[in-house]
Amino acid sequence: MIINVFSKSFFSWFNMIPFCDPSSSYHAHKFDIDKAINRVLDSGWYVLGPEVDAFEQEFASYNGKGFHAVGVANGTDAIALCLRGLGLVSGDEVITSSHTAVATVAGIEHAGCTPVFADIDPHTRCISPRAIEERMGTNTRAIMPVHIYGQPAEMHRILEIGKTHNLAVVEDCSQAHGAEIDGQKVGTFADIAAYSCYPTKNLGGTGDGGVILCRSKELAEKIKSLRQYGWNEARESIIPGFNSRLDELQAAILRVKLQHLSDDNAKRRAIALRYNEGFKELTITLPALAQNELHAMHLYVIECDRRDELMKYLRSHQIGASLHYPKAVHQHDAYANRIRGWEFLPVTDQFYQRSLTLPMYPELSSDAVEHIISTVQNWFWEKS
Ligand SMILES: Cc1ncc(COP(=O)(O)O)c(C=O)c1O
Repeated sequence: MIINVFSKSFFSWFNMIPFCDPSSSYHAHKFDIDKAINRVLDSGWYVLGPEVDAFEQEFASYNGKGFHAVGVANGTDAIALCLRGLGLVSGDEVITSSHTAVATVAGIEHAGCTPVFADIDPHTRCISPRAIEERMGTNTRAIMPVHIYGQPAEMHRILEIGKTHNLAVVEDCSQAHGAEIDGQKVGTFADIAAYSCYPTKNLGGTGDGGVILCRSKELAEKIKSLRQYGWNEARESIIPGFNSRLDELQAAILRVKLQHLSDDNAKRRAIALRYNEGFKELTITLPALAQNELHAMHLYVIECDRRDELMKYLRSHQIGASLHYPKAVHQHDAYANRIRGWEFLPVTDQFYQRSLTLPMYPELSSDAVEHIISTVQNWFWEKS
């Protein structure tokens, strides 16, 4: 196919402001990342080595005192390994939300467990504690809140429910590295937490990666064994495991990115505040930014009527508005009609009719932010 570089569509695509931009993160920290990559290449040690050890220690101390981290191959494995590490077995139910990346549910099933859906809270967009209690059954063994878009779930209430009903709590922090509630990082509230370090994440590498955080050294050691065929130090398999190793290149890059995570999250929040200010007169539901929380602002998602029309308009003005997600998990063919709880998720179902993601990444320029705000305002004014 011959592309006409002067055609309008090529020009528009070329100038599109993306909803996220992993390459700008690489360029922002290029010098240190290139140095880290060369160090690994020169070392000749490419999988589970000194960079992974150092990343695990640095990630654990970034989150608080007395934690252990385990680097794994991706966030989906991290979820499965958390559940396997806790000893959950086939048939054990894990209550989570359908408003998440499919990966949350894929990870639960990968561990042999059975996902169950509870509805979300319209304010936080995370799992509703009341809905969790409504979904509880005789096989329920765990709750998996997802801090969706970087918004902390209601951890205090979820932990209370877990304690009352003797359930494990596993945080899916894949979109919320560095988010806080009352000064405490998410991922440190529950028994264990899973993170994805996919390139688009707040803490993202240049390939697949993931990490697990927990307080128990014993649990961390068990997961270290599970991530490598269930081996002990003598390389004998003492439990059935699989391969979910983190490579040295990703670990070295994540170590560089970790140093900038808090600053990058603060830049994201500043953009979100500017958006919220620019949209406050419009009939849009904005992301909630609570005083006692640090939102990691992984994605900036609004809700409004005529969402599809607005998305089309924004795209025609070179703004990469997008959907997270086009479908809730229970609406995908692979999961439809088979996961307990799917029939009654009214808040989730409504959210998927109205939600729209606007560009959000630390390097997004203020000119771009102002262009996005004025374009959204223009659409509302033209339509009113
Ligand atoms: C909420 C959530 N959970 C889990 C994952 C799984 O991560 P990965 O793609 O690294 O397997 C992701 C990433 O897409 C995610 O957003």
